[in-house]
Amino acid sequence: MEYSTLIHERYSVRKFSPEPVDENSIQAILDTARLAPTAVNKQPQRILVLRSAESMEKLRKATTYLFNAPMALAVCCNRDEAWVRPYDQYNSGVIDAAIVATHIMLKVHDLGLGATWVGHFDPAAFRKVFNLPGYVEPVAIFPIGHPADDAKPSPMHGKRRPLEETVVYDHF
Ligand SMILES: Cc1cc2nc3c(=O)[nH]c(=O)nc-3n(C[C@H](O)[C@H](O)[C@H](O)COP(=O)(O)O)c2cc1C
Repeated sequence: MEYSTLIHERYSVRKFSPEPVDENSIQAILDTARLAPTAVNKQPQRILVLRSAESMEKLRKATTYLFNAPMALAVCCNRDEAWVRPYDQYNSGVIDAAIVATHIMLKVHDLGLGATWVGHFDPAAFRKVFNLPGYVEPVAIFPIGHPADDAKPSPMHGKRRPLEETVVYDHF
């Protein structure tokens, strides 16, 4: 899909058909995630692919924002692998994972699928059910599926602040 069309058309899909996501699409999404830029090319992302009913049931213990999607991807970062800025020890893992997550979100739409970036989850519950080591931090969960016939953007989708409120020229 052409970039500008993709950016304008994409919205958070919160209603799915029960149709499963085929394996080729999952691989295409993961391949796109792999191409995301990361600080010093450390590639600290870890992506959990959750397809089975059992995994989705586990995921339900960490978030209610799954919208009955048939599958999900959870984007995490390995903080021990991520670049650390020497001036202030800022760990880039979450930024890197967010860029990977953005690639995933856009590719999902490119394939005619739908997803919502879910940040409203209980990290402690997520860690527990998926046995995450302490150095792996969950960043974003994407319930993914085929949009239901009557799926539509939420009212929030149409609300973007004017540039004057979010862009600063030269100084604050
Ligand atoms: C970091 C982040 C966290 C989000 N968490 C949630 C969430 O937990 N539940 C949800 O329904 N939507 C969530 N969203 C989706 C936003 O609400 C949505 O992107 C925003 O309202 C704009 O709508 P649009 O994606 O349809 O353009 C999240 C989005 C981002 C970027």
